[in-house]
Amino acid sequence: MSGHRPVLLQEVITSLQPAPGQAFVDATLGGGGYARALIGRLRPGGVLLGIDRDASALERFAREAVPPDVTVMLEHTNFAQLDRAAERIGRPPNGIIFDLGLSSLQLDDPERGFSFQSDGPLDMRLDRSESWTAADLLNRESESDLRRILRDYGQERWGSRIAQRIVERRRQVPFKTTKDLVDVVAGAIPRGAWPRDIHVATRTFMAFRIAVNRELDAVEKGLKAAIEVLASGGRVGVVSFHSLEDKIAKNLFNVEATDCICPPQAPVCICGHRRSVRVITRKPITPSEAEVQENPRARSAKLRIAEKL
Ligand SMILES: C[S@@+](CC[C@H](N)C(=O)[O-])C[C@H]1O[C@@H](n2cnc3c(N)ncnc32)[C@H](O)[C@@H]1O
Repeated sequence: MSGHRPVLLQEVITSLQPAPGQAFVDATLGGGGYARALIGRLRPGGVLLGIDRDASALERFAREAVPPDVTVMLEHTNFAQLDRAAERIGRPPNGIIFDLGLSSLQLDDPERGFSFQSDGPLDMRLDRSESWTAADLLNRESESDLRRILRDYGQERWGSRIAQRIVERRRQVPFKTTKDLVDVVAGAIPRGAWPRDIHVATRTFMAFRIAVNRELDAVEKGLKAAIEVLASGGRVGVVSFHSLEDKIAKNLFNVEATDCICPPQAPVCICGHRRSVRVITRKPITPSEAEVQENPRARSAKLRIAEKL
């Protein structure tokens, strides 16, 4: 069975230091790779709350056998609402992990519409109970918004041309499938400018996926909520695959590790901000060469950790 191979698993476990009896939150359950490793270290007596925005991840995990001496709770929600979900545990968690983006299970399922490799509906919703799909976005957003999404989330230098071609095409026929989008991208970027190391539509698919799911907003809210609910001495970890996600984690941890955040020209502190964490990773932890060899998906992964004071 093909599944999701967890990235930076050893590094996550070593840095979050799960111990028997503790309570942990896996904010991105996915294929359950981290959750299984955490459960093994929280027993006996520990609690694991597994969250995912994708109900199928939770349904899959619910069918797994769990040792009787740990409590496992599953919650179908956006981790932006982690503070509310964590109330279920009944005590402040000792560790919280975020492993951002998609699992291979989602990417490899053509029906989910995340992949440019196989044709499927242009869906891209992480949570299929929400109504806004990638097809809606492509058929309805203004050309300037499409351009902004491609630039900001995909760092796609051909974004203007792709946005223009999207609008031209949808005047004739609406977007329905992933192939519709791949064809437009391939036609908008001159052949000689196609990237060598990634598929020509990689950046576009990533950009629209982030926009459909408002992923960056969720990361900011989820990390703030995590810092708020953590037990003193507890740790939060974030594995990111996109430079903007890593930047959000880095900036938020730095701000939350600083007492006064007034502008430098302010003569006295008026913000009253007090630090709530200590940054454990000055530089992010990245995968070993061996891991990247074995699992190319790990290539761009970065792990940052902060500890609640
Ligand atoms: C990279 S996978 C996690 C893999 C997992 N660590 C493992 O070892 O199998 C990311 C998961 O996070 C979920 N996800 C992404 N954004 C989310 C959000 N805002 N709230 C909750 N879950 C989210 C996705 O649905 C996906 O299942």
